[in-house]
Amino acid sequence: MNTQEAITTRRSVRGYTPEELTESELNTILNAAYSSPIAGARYKTMHLTVIQNKDVLQKISSFYKADMLFGAPALIIVSGQKDFDDTALFANAGCIIENIQISAWDIGLGSVFNWAAGKILPKNEVLVMELGIPDDFKPLCGVVIGHPAKEVSKRELKAVLETNYIR
Ligand SMILES: Cc1cc2nc3c(=O)[nH]c(=O)nc-3n(C[C@H](O)[C@H](O)[C@H](O)COP(=O)(O)O)c2cc1C
Repeated sequence: MNTQEAITTRRSVRGYTPEELTESELNTILNAAYSSPIAGARYKTMHLTVIQNKDVLQKISSFYKADMLFGAPALIIVSGQKDFDDTALFANAGCIIENIQISAWDIGLGSVFNWAAGKILPKNEVLVMELGIPDDFKPLCGVVIGHPAKEVSKRELKAVLETNYIR
């Protein structure tokens, strides 16, 4: 798939098979994350947590109190340094998640943004600690990744964002 096709056809996937990601798939996705633009190239302000342990995924899902992991075998949580500028942290996180989603789609995997990782998970300090997220970092958001449970129709290209031009 070329880059434009991957970007314009990607869809959020909300149903997965239990099939694990291969090491090669995970490496491809992480390399995409590591290639993201980051404000001021301050890479140390961001932290990733890759969760593939079924019991831990179940624990997170139970804490969310709704099925927001959709049976996926992997969740990547993006955290940011607590004392760093929030705008930069969330913008960085968006760049990282988008790179991950495009890369996953490109290699035939599905993914969906996991807002709960930043909205709900931080309320459980013990679980955040168990996930090995450093003390001075806070979870901002996450992305669920796996093999789609059923065929996903490709997104159709439409100009969905109101756009004005100054020429
Ligand atoms: C900031 C952000 C938060 C999102 N949170 C969730 C979420 O918590 N759960 C979910 O299923 N989808 C979530 N999404 C996915 C959007 O619903 C999805 O991208 C949108 O409906 C467009 O569909 P598409 O991704 O298939 O093009 C989120 C997307 C973004 C950018």
